[in-house]
Amino acid sequence: MTANDRARMRDFYDDLGEGEWLRLESSPRGRVAYEVHRQFLERFVRPGDRVLEIGAGPGRFTFDLARLGAEIDVTDFSQVQLDLHRQHVGVTDAEIAVASRALLDICDTSRYDDETFDVVLAYGGPLSYAFEQTEEAFGGLLRITKPGGYVVASVMSWLGSWRYFLRGALEEMNEVGEDAIDLVLTTGDLRHSQTVHVCQMFRARDVSVLVAKCGGEMAAMSSSNWASLNDADVLEELETNADRWERFIRHEIAACAEPGALDGGTHILFAAQRQ
Ligand SMILES: C[S@@+](CC[C@H](N)C(=O)[O-])C[C@H]1O[C@@H](n2cnc3c(N)ncnc32)[C@H](O)[C@@H]1O
Repeated sequence: MTANDRARMRDFYDDLGEGEWLRLESSPRGRVAYEVHRQFLERFVRPGDRVLEIGAGPGRFTFDLARLGAEIDVTDFSQVQLDLHRQHVGVTDAEIAVASRALLDICDTSRYDDETFDVVLAYGGPLSYAFEQTEEAFGGLLRITKPGGYVVASVMSWLGSWRYFLRGALEEMNEVGEDAIDLVLTTGDLRHSQTVHVCQMFRARDVSVLVAKCGGEMAAMSSSNWASLNDADVLEELETNADRWERFIRHEIAACAEPGALDGGTHILFAAQRQ
């Protein structure tokens, strides 16, 4: 069952192809999400760090890791996304920072020795597709991280997605019925719906429990995004003024890290330290 679900999501990302590159640049909401993720990541990567990037997609954050001076092992479970990664990153100076490119499922990191990486990065939800193997997968990420190093990840937010996709939830209810939506809203598991994009959504407290259960220490959490999920026209206007935009991003990032905001975005970011 779980393997089938993941194969289904691999097909999804194979078919999505280049569309994944546009996700964090084609809308103001996406551009804010990129800033929230980029600035969060910067706090945990040092020059010379060896980084394993899981679910790298076409390479949006590989460019940032390269700029931060990391040496990067790039992985994804979609061959299409890995090929796109080569097309986007391979022709730029950032390619010097790429140590390797390989297929990898987040649920099986057994090929790596204990304590290999300074940072393991899984942005954009690979952990949300591990379903029943989430604990095993996350435990594996901590195992291959050096003591004092970090697992930095983002997962889909259960409560924030419900709020943001309320219209879609209503349409889905008309399709699959109230009972199925009850299950989605009481488990966070989108496999109970009929949506094409199935994943496990998390509450902030689920993420904290996961990290503690696997022996990690939570270093930081953030939502993405808080004030910038709607009102695209307002955001576009703010973007036309560089000073206002910079101030807005600063306030938005501070707001996203407030305990009261952690469940408010479509994604939850976190950094867990290996003890
Ligand atoms: C939403 S994209 C994020 C890409 C990039 N990390 C970013 O944040 O811009 C999710 C990526 O994770 C990959 N992925 C999904 N499930 C995975 C799994 N179980 N193991 C490894 N990669 C996975 C997908 O193929 C896709 O490239």
